[in-house]
Order: sequence, then C-alpha cells, then structure tokens
Amino acid sequence: MSALPGAPHLARAGADLQLDGQPLAALAQAYGTPLFVYSQRAMLDALAAYQRALQGRQHLVCYAMKANSSLAVLQSFARAGCGFDIVSGGELARVLAAGGDPAKVVFSGVGKTPAEMRQALLCGPAGVRCFNVESTAELDTLNAVALSLGRRAPVSLRVNPDVDAGTHPYISTGLKGNKFGIAHAQAVGAYRHAASLPGLQVVGIDCHIGSQITQIAPYLDALDRLLDLVEQVEAAGIPIHHVDVGGGLGVSYSSDEAPPQADRLVAALLQRLDARGHGQRELLFEPGRSLVANAGVLLTEVLVLKPGADDGSGGKNFCIVDAAMNDLVRPAMYEAWMQIEPCRLRDAAPSTWDVVGPVCESGDWLGRDRALAVQPGDVLAILSAGAYGMTMASNYNTRPRAAEVMLVDGQACLIREREAVASLFAAERLIER
Ligand code: LLP
Repeated sequence: MSALPGAPHLARAGADLQLDGQPLAALAQAYGTPLFVYSQRAMLDALAAYQRALQGRQHLVCYAMKANSSLAVLQSFARAGCGFDIVSGGELARVLAAGGDPAKVVFSGVGKTPAEMRQALLCGPAGVRCFNVESTAELDTLNAVALSLGRRAPVSLRVNPDVDAGTHPYISTGLKGNKFGIAHAQAVGAYRHAASLPGLQVVGIDCHIGSQITQIAPYLDALDRLLDLVEQVEAAGIPIHHVDVGGGLGVSYSSDEAPPQADRLVAALLQRLDARGHGQRELLFEPGRSLVANAGVLLTEVLVLKPGADDGSGGKNFCIVDAAMNDLVRPAMYEAWMQIEPCRLRDAAPSTWDVVGPVCESGDWLGRDRALAVQPGDVLAILSAGAYGMTMASNYNTRPRAAEVMLVDGQACLIREREAVASLFAAERLIER
C-alpha cells in the first residue's frame, strides 16, 4: 500500500486507521462526528524540522496561524519557542490567550484597521515584533497611529517580487496582478518614505509568494529579488535587519505529490543568502500549512448511500456523510483533492463514490470518484485536514462547527467542544415592534 499523507504519525494497524497509535474509529465513537483530530507530535515534528535546519543562524519561525488557530495548537507551538504570523486583531487576541509572546509576532495583511494597529502596538511590554506593511498609505496610517500613542512602530515592507509560485490562482500571491505587497519597482521609494516618518522604524523586508508551493526555485527567485532591494535600500542609508521569506511550502495531499521537505528549502535559502554575502541577516519564515496539514484528519460518519441507476446512464453513486463544505471547504473552494480513507477497512470490493455532505449545494463535495467499500455508520477520515479546515469552517445551513481533539503524549484531549446550536443565534435579536 502506498504511504499515507501524515505518515509516520498516521498508519494502518490491521484494518484500523490510527493516528499516533490511537484508533480513529474509537475517537469518533467517543467524541462524535464530524471531528477534527490532530497529532501534537506531528505538529511539533514539523516545526522542529524548520528549527533544526535554522540552528546556528539568527532566525524566527512565525507560524501562520490562519492555517489552524485553535488555542491548543497555538499553545503547543508557543511552548516550542515559535512565533506567530497574524493577519487580524482577532488572531492577536488568540495568540495572547494561548500564552504566545507578542515580541515574536509579525502582523501581516493587506488591510489593517487603525484599531488593530493600536492593539498590536500596545500589547505585551513592547507591542508586536513587526508590522508587515503592504502599501505607502498603510505606512502613513501606521505612522499616525504610532505617534498618537507615543510609540515607534517596527516595520517591514511586503514586496511583491513578481515571481510565479506555480500554484492555484486563488492561493498565488506574489504576481504583479495580485492585490498583495508593494510593487518591486516602487519598493525603494516606499522605504525612503518609511524612513522619513518619525513614528516608524524600518526593521525588515518580506514577501509571500503563494501557498502549496511544491518547488524550491520560486523561493530562490523571490529571495534574489528581495536581496536586490535590500542592497539598494541599504545603499540609500536605510538598514534592513531581517529578511522574511513568507510561508507557502506545500505538503503531500496524495502520495504522488512530493514537495521538498522543510530542511531542504531552508538549506537552499541559507546557501543563497551566504552566496550573496547576506549570511548574517536574520531569516524569518511564516509557514502555515506545512506545520499542521498532515497532522490532522477530519472524521465523518456515512449517513446514507445513494447508488446511481444501474442502467449504464452514467448515474453517480453518492456517499452522503455528516461533514460538509461548512466543515471543510477546500474541495468546494479550490477543487482540492484530499485523501479519504475508511477508519476500519471492510473486507469487501470497493465501489466508486462521490463523497458529499448534507449542505444544499451541488458544490458541497469532499471527494469525487473515490474507490471505497463503505456502509452507513462507517467512519471515514479525510486526511491532511489539519490546515485550513477548522479555520475556514462556517455555520452555513445553521450547522454547528465540529469538535476538535488533540492527541498529546498518547492521550486524547478535547481542545474544542462541538458548537451548540443555541450559541449560533445567541447574539441575534428578534424585532420588538
Ligand atoms: N504568510 C502570509 C502573508 C500568508 O498570506 C500565508 C497564507 C502564509 C504566510 C502561510 O502560507 P502557507 O504556509 O500556509 O501556505 N486557504 C488556502 C490557503 C490560503 C493561504 C493564504 N495565505 C488553502 O486551503 O489552500
């Protein structure tokens, strides 16, 4: 059998699919479905791969928490010395609630509000480590906010390096036509402007070229473009301390997808930094998916089987499960392929099924044309669901969001209760007239 994405943490023991040695069918039984289950060990191993490769260098790994922002996930990373890449005041509040260190937080995002800027400047003893600024207008706003508080805001400019990350158009962010970053040609002018503003302190440069990137070459192209700018900006008398190459490293969603391991990516980037005489610079990373995707699965129970007509008319077989696009939107939104495995293998011939949820949309599917031997009541695991699963979940169709369990040293810990229906409309008001 081909390797499972998520191995070695995810494995079959006989018929049973296990995460960290725990049979997933039993967890579904104990906690109900839909249920996200994460291996803390797998998350920490993924982080350690970056940290090991960066050892001996000035560096900071800032977990892009949009991938999975559950408090216990953040807490696990914070305890391992990790920083955080945030994109909202809400994410900052989560970092603080989970015990994260604001001095290790970089604040990304193309549209920060003045209130969020204030919150980020005032949190902790000295505010966040850095604002990744995406436009000259944002420089002006941040300057005014910082001055009004008697602070100086540390800034890095997010530059759009105009390189093709070769990924899905919705998650490619470093091309000229994207809304992100300051155009390469305008970057030196933007740095001069930043350096002239008394409420700002230039500390770095950053980029982020996309997500689910499966090659090293686009990173090296982007780094070269950043270093060209660093040289020009420093020649203009503005020192730049750190270089932040963003996140984006892909994971295997299937065994025929083999993105580079984090250590190879890091080694290639360090080598390029050295070759260009920038080895002393602090290097920042903002990985999201590559730290958490393969550490998690979404468990879902088969509700109904609806075989298509057996008359050769091409009718589809539908396997209707209790998880849906509101729990895991990646297939519906990006046509993402995510592996689906029965938690207990049946000794029966598989049929071809479209695995779909109960939501009232034809786009509500989790996997198409999957060979599965299934019966109602069986539990299926959607693999690699640790990233962009729960954080993108919604309450569409007034469906409460799933519960989450984290496996910690062989023990299952409930890290989020299943949402109660009453809480979904607790903040709503009837009209009183
Ligand atoms: N830094 C910035 C500024 C970002 O915008 C992102 C992701 C990251 C870091 C982390 O990228 P990662 O290492 O996770 O690829 N929902 C989509 C992915 C959207 C990524 C958005 N930005 C998906 O499910 O594929």
